[in-house]
Amino acid sequence: MTHTTDNPRDHERPALLDLFCCAGGAGRGFHRAGFDVTGIDIRPRPNYPFTFIQGNVLTVLADLVASGEIRQYAAVHASPPCQGKCALTVGTNQAMGWGGAHVDLVAPTRQLLDTSGLPYVIEQPDGKADVRKDITLCGEMFGLGVLRHRNFELGGWTAPQPVHKPHRGRVRGWRHGRYFDGPYVAAYGSGGGKATVAEMQQAMGIDWTDVREELTEAIPPAYSEWLGRAFLARTRAGAVAA
Ligand SMILES: C[S@@+](CC[C@H](N)C(=O)[O-])C[C@H]1O[C@@H](n2cnc3c(N)ncnc32)[C@H](O)[C@@H]1O
Repeated sequence: MTHTTDNPRDHERPALLDLFCCAGGAGRGFHRAGFDVTGIDIRPRPNYPFTFIQGNVLTVLADLVASGEIRQYAAVHASPPCQGKCALTVGTNQAMGWGGAHVDLVAPTRQLLDTSGLPYVIEQPDGKADVRKDITLCGEMFGLGVLRHRNFELGGWTAPQPVHKPHRGRVRGWRHGRYFDGPYVAAYGSGGGKATVAEMQQAMGIDWTDVREELTEAIPPAYSEWLGRAFLARTRAGAVAA
């Protein structure tokens, strides 16, 4: 299934493939940086604001690499779910529920991306999966209302690590029977003082979905905008490895 929503493909922009796209937290930032974005997700994602392909990333990506169609893209971003939150097929999702299968999608995705020869980014939450921490981003670097540390492995290109700014305080909520107030909200789970949908939207800069699951899965678009701008600056300087 492919759909195009409010953004028809803009061939003036370099194309970026957004793997495991969900509702497009990452995709939105790359679009803001100047890319024409196409997302792939195993679930229908009607809130995804760019060109969307529904399918298993490993199958669709393998086909794109084998056919050479992958070369239409300048770069690829991947946000594989961490182990314990993986799905191989829609049937698996329906039968076991999201999070039912324990499959490592990071290694096979990386293998396909290395075969593609394209520069890429693989994103994972801090402390999850086997991803190099070439870049670590934090909400405070962008003045956001979440901390949401994320690691990014860069394949075939490099970018300088921004300085990690001191946090302004704590993440609001209950921990070990004690309530903490603070300038950041917890954009995961629910209860215990964690963020409401409206608070997550505000804190991460996401206003095009109000689906709680999509918000809790998203990276703030500011992160991928920073990565996208860094990538384009290096490309324009002719410094990206072939
Ligand atoms: C962590 S979320 C991605 C968040 C996204 N980068 C963002 O910023 O909004 C992971 C996504 O992977 C999707 N997914 C899980 N297994 C998949 C598979 N085998 N193929 C395609 N998508 C898959 C899930 O439906 C979920 O939307």
